[in-house]
This record gives sequence, structure tokens and C-alpha cells, in this order.
Amino acid sequence: MAAKRKLSVLFVTSEVAPLVKTGGLADVSGALPIALMAQGVEVRVLMPGYPAVMEGVKAKGRLASLPAMGELPGCQLLAGKLPGGVPLLIVDCPQLYHRPGGPYQDISGKDWADNDLRFGLLCYVAALLAGAHSPITWRPRILHCNDWQAGLAPAYLHFMQGEKARTVTTIHNLAYQGVYPAVTLSRLGLPPSAFSPNGVEYYGNLSFLKAGLYYADHITTVSPNYAQEIQHAPLGMGLQGLLAHRVERLTGILNGIDTDAWDPESDPYIAKYYNAARLPVKLENKRALQSRLGLQAADDVPLIGSVGRFTDQKGFDLILECAQALIGLPAQLAILGSGDAELQEAFQQLARSHPGKVGVQIGYDESLAHQIEAGADLFLMPSRFEPCGLNQMYSQRYGTPPVVHATGGLVDSVVDCTPQTIANKTATGFLFSPMTREAMLIGVGRAVAAYRDKKLWRQLQKNGMARDFSWDTSARQYLELYAALLAEQPA
Ligand code: ADP
Ligand code: GLC
Repeated sequence: MAAKRKLSVLFVTSEVAPLVKTGGLADVSGALPIALMAQGVEVRVLMPGYPAVMEGVKAKGRLASLPAMGELPGCQLLAGKLPGGVPLLIVDCPQLYHRPGGPYQDISGKDWADNDLRFGLLCYVAALLAGAHSPITWRPRILHCNDWQAGLAPAYLHFMQGEKARTVTTIHNLAYQGVYPAVTLSRLGLPPSAFSPNGVEYYGNLSFLKAGLYYADHITTVSPNYAQEIQHAPLGMGLQGLLAHRVERLTGILNGIDTDAWDPESDPYIAKYYNAARLPVKLENKRALQSRLGLQAADDVPLIGSVGRFTDQKGFDLILECAQALIGLPAQLAILGSGDAELQEAFQQLARSHPGKVGVQIGYDESLAHQIEAGADLFLMPSRFEPCGLNQMYSQRYGTPPVVHATGGLVDSVVDCTPQTIANKTATGFLFSPMTREAMLIGVGRAVAAYRDKKLWRQLQKNGMARDFSWDTSARQYLELYAALLAEQPA
């Protein structure tokens, strides 16, 4: 019998922690490939050579030079390793990627005007590597594309001749679809026939994400509940028709978390290590957080933490609207985030008018994010929609029960506290619905009442801390999916 061919996967992403991160996609891209490798998969990550990647990855070898195509400039394909040891392929194109700012935006927060070319090139290179005319000898059997930035790769691959990889598109967030004018098609060197409702066309424009959803052999998203929600308006965000049509090809796989980086027993960012057997020690982290954010030293006032991007998705506006009521409970607020300029200003104003009760830090701060998870008593996540969400899993692991809007992956990862779930020791947090001030305040009110019941609270903390959110389970589900896709192929 011929030796079994190793499962090889090219994982295409626009951000990878710890090198480049704007959100959860980077966490997933940093951790899932490692978990797949641990299960025997040969994974390579493909990403653009932003400055942070070129500087952060020291030893790089040149694998190939790729010529220009359409308006996509020529580029170099480099090989290196991610800090966690996963082999990395870098698309090096100084003209597109060597510039200050973030992966999607300039320093002033404006989207780069040439994002179609920047991510079009990523997609084109991904497809080349997954096809019969790859410039290198290594061949993936699975091309795994993430979010709109990698969405065109299955489209490019579709129009290539010869043997090719099976394709998966993973939706981390449907709100970002990569929509560009129709002329983009020829700029990116895609054939005119691709511009069809059965192709990359989307209401007269070209959509990267729609292309990924249309051409991929399989679609996944990052929680089972979100996989259901996106088949309908409003959460399908215009793509519900296509998603419902492809339901047989749509799977929800709940993300894991990096349980090494997020471990209260060894987290280098927190004041004092603790675990489920040493929960009273957590108080020292609360005191440290209160001190860092200028909050009053008050052991018994519940401290409500929240961390995230200030966008419509995350519902920080609701926290702002309820701030008076929350402080009046009484409770303290610890907020870390950045994004929408008005929200940033409003939260700073809130902190100024409630010194000692509201602590706000604007910006991206890894250490404070960890300190809030460890130091807060409860973690508030009023997301309008949430494909998966990671913070609610971190908070359970840190013994900081989450209070969340009942949407998306929050429903799949938080067990609401009810008499039944208390009795069977599965309760880990508080779900509220609908997405209104009243419902959120009821949710927080339930949490604060539980906090006052020391025995119940300890139990809730322990239930959450005992949950297994490691990547192993998710990686196994991706493996099964890859295997099923390969099994469909004619021998
Ligand atoms: P999303 O990807 O939609 O932003 P997730 O919950 O999946 O939401 O992931 C967000 C990740 O980014 C988490 O690791 C969270 O701690 C982190 N994060 C978000 N905003 C900040 C911030 N201002 N400072 C530090 N970390 C942040
Ligand atoms: C997205 C989603 C978030 C998810 C993350 C990683 O940014 O908003 O819910 O956890 O991707 O999949």
C-alpha cells in the first residue's frame, strides 16, 4: 500500500498574533496552525510582508520571484518561521506593504486606497501555491482562506488549470466584505466570466468575501450559532441568500483560545498568579487594577471590565448609555478600547466626571487587557453580533464571569446562570436579550446579585475555570472537515 500522503494546509490570513493584530483573527491565526501541527498536519501560513513581519521574522530565505499580473506588482515569496514555530510564507512586495500604519489602514485610521491590490496579491499568490503551476515544490492539499482579505483565492484557483487544492473559506466577521468597483476585476487579472452573480459579482461590484463564499468547496464560521444566524437577515448582512443556499457546505466550529498566553497561573502581565484552588488571591489583581486605573480601593464593590474595539458591533455605546445606572449599583467600570472617535471621547469624558469609579484607557494595550481579565469581577460584552468572541472565554478562564448579549458565539460559549445550571454546576455567566439597556441592566443586576452570594459566586468562577477552551477540540473538527473534503475528490 502506498504511504499515506501527509495532510498539508496553506493557511491564508491578513494578521497573525503576535506579529500583527487588530482583533481575534490574529489570535486564531496564531493558535490554530500550532494546534493543527500538533495533530500531525503540515501547515504553512501565508501573509503579506508588512514591516512588522519583515522585522519580526529574522531568518528569511527567498523561495521564488513572481512576475506582475494585471495591476498586481511582481513580488518575492520568502520563507521564515512564526514565533510559535509554524513555517511562514511571506508575500514581500514593498510597493504594497512597506509603509507605516496598520494592516488595513494608515496612521490616521483611513483604509489604504489600494487594499484591493494589497489583498488581491495575497489571494493570487495563495492560489498559485495551491495550484499545479506553483513556483515552489511544496503543495497544500487544502487551501484555508480567512475573511475577505483571502476571499479571492478560491476564485483565482477556480480559473486555474490542473490539479489543485480543496478550498475552505472561514468567516470571522461578515461585516467586512471587501467590496470594490467592477473595474477591480481586470485590475486584479480575473477573467470577465468571473463577474457574475454566480461568481465574484455583488450588486454590481466585486466582493472579495462573496467570491470566497461562492467558490470555496466549504465555508466555515467561528461558532455553530453564528452559522445559523448568518443564513438570515439581519446578521447575514446581505449574504444570507448565498449562505442559506450553501447550507450543506456551511459548518460552525467554535474557536479555541491560546491557553498558554491566557493562563492566570502563569500570566506575566498580572499582579499575582492564581488558580481555581487559590481564588482569594484574585483580589490582589483587583486591587492592582484599581490602582492602575485610578479607581477607589474598594474590595467589595463589583468591578465590571470590558475590552474591545469601539465599533458598532461591540455595543460599547450601550455601556455608555447605562453608565450612570451601573455606577449606581454600585459598581466600578474598567474600560479598555479604541476605535470610533466619538466613543473614545465619550468614555474619556465619563472617566473625568466619575473619578475613582470609572477607569478608561484608550488604545491597544495587551498588558491591561490581561489585567482586566484577571482583576475585574465580571466581564461585560454587549455585542450586537459576535461571530465567536474570545474575551468571554478568557474571562471564564480567569474566574471573571461574563455578562453577554445572547448572540453568536457568546451563546455557544457561556452557560447562563439559572437554578438548573447552578444545580448541575454548568453555569458560567449571564446572558441577556434583547439588545436593550433594560435587558443589559437586568443581566448585570443578576450578576451583581450572584456576586453578593459568595458561595454561588465561587461556584460560578470554578465552573468557568474548569471549562476546556483549548484549541485541540476545534483543531480536531477542522481536521475532520479537511479529511472529508479530500475524501470527496476522485482518487
Ligand atoms: P474581534 O476580533 O471582533 O475584535 P475577539 O473577541 O474575537 O473580537 O478578539 C479580540 C481580541 O483583541 C482579544 O484578544 C482582545 O483581548 C483583543 N483586544 C481588543 N481590543 C483591545 C485593546 N484595546 N487592547 C488590547 N487587546 C484588545
Ligand atoms: C472576528 C469576530 C470575533 C471572532 C474573531 C476570531 O473578528 O468579530 O467574534 O472571535 O473574528 O474568529
